Amino acid sequence: MADLEAPSAEEATRRKFLAGLIGVVAGLVSTIVALPAIGYLVSPGLKRSGEEKWINLGPLSSVVPGVPTPFRWSRRVEDGWVKTTQSGTAYAVQLEGQELKVLSDVCTHLGCRVTWDQDRQLFVCPCHDGFFAIDGRVTFGPPPKPLINLPYRIENGQIQIRLEA
Ligand code: FES
Repeated sequence: MADLEAPSAEEATRRKFLAGLIGVVAGLVSTIVALPAIGYLVSPGLKRSGEEKWINLGPLSSVVPGVPTPFRWSRRVEDGWVKTTQSGTAYAVQLEGQELKVLSDVCTHLGCRVTWDQDRQLFVCPCHDGFFAIDGRVTFGPPPKPLINLPYRIENGQIQIRLEA
């Protein structure tokens, strides 16, 4: 006949301790197994890339002195899980006796795209009648600042720009 006596207090304590120890070990093993998977899932959300790359615009030789020369550009941007394509136009401006400028086409008022109007000799923003001179200065309208001078470099005769995030 089996002994059905209740466990002694010492044995009950030992059982509780062992049950707790097993729980702790199981939790540790689960965490160790799950960490790589958690890292894989979370890490793209924490990193940003593509911000420091130079974007090729086109040959310096195609810039017409005294006339803003438009270059279309596009780039892929990864921001965590979000992958997008950005595009725009940069205007290379070579004025007599001055260094080359590369101007953004983004209006400094509310971000509409400006275009060069050869007849008026102005950059025109269609949204709120903002106007900029050939060197990017505001000549009329609500824009609070000149057009942005983009950082650029010349590599093998090609104009390259660097855009922020
Ligand atoms: S966005 Fe260009 S003038 Fe308003």
